[in-house]
Amino acid sequence: MLILSVETSCDETAVAVTRDGRTVLADEIYSQADMHALYGGVVPEIASRNHIAVIGRLADMALQNAGITKKDIDAVAVTYAPGLIGALLVGVNFAKGLALSLGVPLVPVHHIRGHIAANYIAYPELEPPFLALVVSGGNSLIADVRGYTDIRIVGASRDDAAGECFDKVARVLGLPYPGGKPLDDLSQGGDDTAFKLPRAKIDGCPYDMSFSGLKTAVVNIVHNAEQKGEVLDRPSLAASFAAAVSDTLVPRTMAAAGGLGYEKIAIAGGVAANSRIRADFVKAAAEKGRTLFIPPLRLCGDNGAMIGCQGYYEFCAGRRAGMELNAYATMDV
Ligand code: KG4
Repeated sequence: MLILSVETSCDETAVAVTRDGRTVLADEIYSQADMHALYGGVVPEIASRNHIAVIGRLADMALQNAGITKKDIDAVAVTYAPGLIGALLVGVNFAKGLALSLGVPLVPVHHIRGHIAANYIAYPELEPPFLALVVSGGNSLIADVRGYTDIRIVGASRDDAAGECFDKVARVLGLPYPGGKPLDDLSQGGDDTAFKLPRAKIDGCPYDMSFSGLKTAVVNIVHNAEQKGEVLDRPSLAASFAAAVSDTLVPRTMAAAGGLGYEKIAIAGGVAANSRIRADFVKAAAEKGRTLFIPPLRLCGDNGAMIGCQGYYEFCAGRRAGMELNAYATMDV
């Protein structure tokens, strides 16, 4: 079964062609990050306008690189939630037009489910049930993946997402947007014990997280140093920050896997590209005897292939949308 999939939830326009869920025939991504970098973060209207400008060409490229024509497509899958509403609407309307003109089913896909599905592409042997940690620019959550389309949240950030926190800390350190990768690079060689940073816990909710206090602590350190004219050890601050985020994510995820009795743990989302977090997960999984699945860097961030993959399992579960399909800024997994 050939699915053409569309992802426009934030500042990446992505179109992919996948066969039977897990085989990627084409995966085209156009990132607008450089444009938004001028403003230090994603500007929603600019994101929507750029999706409109490039989505048609990306779809043509995806078809060409997959070696198929429009007539070969069996279904169109599209991210309809959560994300920037104007950005999502571009993808949803493009997907609707394509499905309508070809007379094929339209399959709505939840963005977070897509991130989890990136693991199915990277690991052909991976099947539910397993525990998943999704850490991206907009979400930080621990999910009980009981089946391909039966997913329950067991823990989540009460405030900022981990990626949002990386981006804000990077910004205050004068690094370009999106700041996760530059901050990761800066932290290499830094002393991760140089700065004492908070690791918040939420009473009675062991799998929930909070990152806003950590973000404020780093911002205060930077501003105090600026006021006093002190030279800050930026690599060590970046390393201490990455350690604090990792100390929030890794033990919770391991505890949730233990609590739910899962041997398999999958990580997903842009922040899963972080070197410290990846290394700590590898160590913790080896210590606890759990099998870890972390997608390659390209599949960690937003992409169309993950939407095509999840779209296949949604299709198999009977999920279809009509021409009334809308986009939603927030939506339960
Ligand atoms: O999954 P993603 O591409 O988009 C969303 O769905 O949000 O995640 C983007 C986030 C950004 O906040 C970015 O700074 C972060 O992932 N990120 C990283 C790294 N690479 C990307 N954060 C920490 N370390 C990295 N190496």
